[in-house]
Amino acid sequence: MADKARVAVMVSSEGTNLQALIDAQRAGLIDRGEIALVISNKEGARALQRAEKAGIETAVIRPKDCGGQKGFEDACKKAIDSKDIDLIVLAGFTIILSRDFVNYYNHKIINIHPSLIPAFCGDGYYGLVPHEEALKRGVKVTGASVHYVNEVADGGEIIAQKAVNVEEGDTPETLQRRVMEQAEWLILPVAVAKICRRIVKERQKRG
Ligand code: GRF
Repeated sequence: MADKARVAVMVSSEGTNLQALIDAQRAGLIDRGEIALVISNKEGARALQRAEKAGIETAVIRPKDCGGQKGFEDACKKAIDSKDIDLIVLAGFTIILSRDFVNYYNHKIINIHPSLIPAFCGDGYYGLVPHEEALKRGVKVTGASVHYVNEVADGGEIIAQKAVNVEEGDTPETLQRRVMEQAEWLILPVAVAKICRRIVKERQKRG
């Protein structure tokens, strides 16, 4: 049996979280995992260049080419299943997946969200929105969360969280950057490393 868990990362844009995973794999922090596939729903996403540069197989799957969400998810399943993926990481992925898709990969999908769930999360809370809302509310501390994905947007079991201070004069952009640097890029690789180790351990136990 392979001694590494196979990871697929689903992305939509910049891919800085993907980069953090690639770097962590290179540095040996993710010692029992291998990023085997990157799926983007957007052609030309910067994340795709990062994956290609790291020699990782990529797939562009766009809902509009697949006749909508159902066709999109079927195409993703086909790509994921053909690569024997053990763990799916949503890293800056902006499509909300259906209950069917999420149940099919029960407890195999995780997501990074730029707030301390249950604050500033749920449908519509992506991009700058969580940071705009955090500033509007005047919180002094925000952060990031890694969680399992279930049928409720940002509603699955929380795996890891890290707090980040809001500073005087922050804009949504400066806050977003600090949350990425001080929380997202740290907790996502650690969470992936841990889950991969557990997957490999369980596989070895089963023999
Ligand atoms: C990140 O803040 C992530 O938490 C959120 O979308 C943003 C995109 O980041 N879900 P990137 O594409 O990984 O750079």
